[in-house]
Amino acid sequence: MANHLLSLWDFDRDQLKAYLDLALQLKRESKAGVRHQHLVGKVVGLVFEKPSTRTRVSFEAAMYGLGGQVIYLSSRDTQLARNEPLKDMARVMDRYVDALVVRTFGQEVVEELARYSTVPIINALTDLHHPCQILSDIMTVIEKKGSVEGRQIAWVGDGNNMANSWIQAAGRLGFNLTLACPEGYDPDPVILKAAQDDGIGRIEVVRDPLAAVKNAEVVNVDVWASMGQEEEQDARLEVFQPYQVNDTLLGAAKSDTIVLHCLPAHRGEEITDEVLEGAQCVAFDQAENKMHIHKAILAKHLS
Ligand code: CP
Ligand code: NVA
Repeated sequence: MANHLLSLWDFDRDQLKAYLDLALQLKRESKAGVRHQHLVGKVVGLVFEKPSTRTRVSFEAAMYGLGGQVIYLSSRDTQLARNEPLKDMARVMDRYVDALVVRTFGQEVVEELARYSTVPIINALTDLHHPCQILSDIMTVIEKKGSVEGRQIAWVGDGNNMANSWIQAAGRLGFNLTLACPEGYDPDPVILKAAQDDGIGRIEVVRDPLAAVKNAEVVNVDVWASMGQEEEQDARLEVFQPYQVNDTLLGAAKSDTIVLHCLPAHRGEEITDEVLEGAQCVAFDQAENKMHIHKAILAKHLS
């Protein structure tokens, strides 16, 4: 079977650490002027059913940075838009490209593609997971804090795709994760329970954002309405207001606590302009790291 990346639980602790180590190495080397050639002659197809700035461009830049090439396919330009079965798409695309990077709605879409594809399927965000993003976020934690194991990390806001992937990472990599989510917006209960049962990190869901950030070394924030939830935007604005990451909330954390935001940010909603532009926020370094982690993922899955 091809080496797919559908969620972080496709990998054990050592494999996750290997992505992080390789990304840090590739970043160091490319800053030193090394021109990498890991994927010369390889082609990756990017199939995106939702918009993207960072993930698309960083995967493309990563592939070119390793000597490979990409073909970008917006879903509306493919026969997916006219309901061609995924199993047919998978069995055609795998004859043209060496891997498919897919951003879509249901996790079952990437799972179905993976069932039929002989080349790796890489999840570039579904409604349930955003695994590649969390790897670049953890890389950023390692850079800023020296390590991730044993650290106290907070998630403030929606129990969404990002939260689910953070939960999986906490279980596997062994850090403590406290998620402050409003009632009715908890992370996926199956993922949460599995991570709590099997994981080595302590993972808990609380309602009070202050309690989550109080001892946190890292505070994570994401949009209140994810892609596909646009109709819920107004209702969510009200529910999530107490979960805004602002100077008052951040004041409850330590002065060296860092703030992560995967971007795009909605200033004045989940995060204030002051916090996003402030010294504790590392969102733009985090965005850069997407490219380095994507290089590591592509090198490991395609070499
Ligand atoms: N963080 C992230 O996935 O951004 P894009 O939606 O721009 O790809
Ligand atoms: N939770 C957000 C992440 C965007 C990168 C979404 O799914 O829209």
